[in-house]
Amino acid sequence: MNILGIDIGGSALKGAPVNTKTGKLLAKRHRISTPDALSPKAMAAAIKELAAHFEWKGPIGIGFPGVVHDNVIRTSANLHKDFIDLDAGKLFGKVTGMPVSLVNDADAAGAAEVAFGAGKGRKGAVLLLTFGTGVGSALFLDGKLYPNSEFGHLKMKGRSAEHFVSAAAKERKDLSYKKWGHLVSDYLNQLEEVLWPDLIIVGGGISADHKKWFKHLKLRTLIMPAAFLNEAGIVGAALSAAK
Ligand code: BGC
Repeated sequence: MNILGIDIGGSALKGAPVNTKTGKLLAKRHRISTPDALSPKAMAAAIKELAAHFEWKGPIGIGFPGVVHDNVIRTSANLHKDFIDLDAGKLFGKVTGMPVSLVNDADAAGAAEVAFGAGKGRKGAVLLLTFGTGVGSALFLDGKLYPNSEFGHLKMKGRSAEHFVSAAAKERKDLSYKKWGHLVSDYLNQLEEVLWPDLIIVGGGISADHKKWFKHLKLRTLIMPAAFLNEAGIVGAALSAAK
């Protein structure tokens, strides 16, 4: 089945048609920058533009950076607050004229990694974390997702951990990989203590630089970079829609 996968992020939306049997992109991914916090209406127009770029007629799967229940967005930590409690499946479906389904962006990335990437064939508890504008999480037991886990909002110093350990926080505070790596290590130790995962997979753009920072982590759990790097969100959004 071919589905247009779209990953909505803090600064851009990216998409490509995906073959959900193989996890392969059927065309080069297209990116639309969203420097300003887009309202739901403006986001719908951007999604329409992305679909038009591929002359897309068919189902669309979207990963959104917030809790998503049955296509209704429940939280929006880093995007426009008007997304909260919006039936985005309905709005985006109406504007594009295509069937649209939504999932949490990290759950989407996790679905891609578990089906075709670093988590493929893994038994036990697998935790995928994405480090980007925020910190996203996807938790799997024997390949089955526990949806909408939000470990980026575990508290550190009274605030959401993503405020300190996201890739955006590293940039904002101009931290070295060593300094940031130590913060990430503390954060991961907390997750190890409460979840005892068998494997941690790290996604987000900064996972491409894992050689620079994995060495600063003191963990008991096996940790691996995501196999898909930046495409996991697109592929996983399509896979999730296929289900
Ligand atoms: C959101 C999550 C999302 C993560 C990564 C967090 O702020 O609450 O739902 O997965 O950012 O985008």
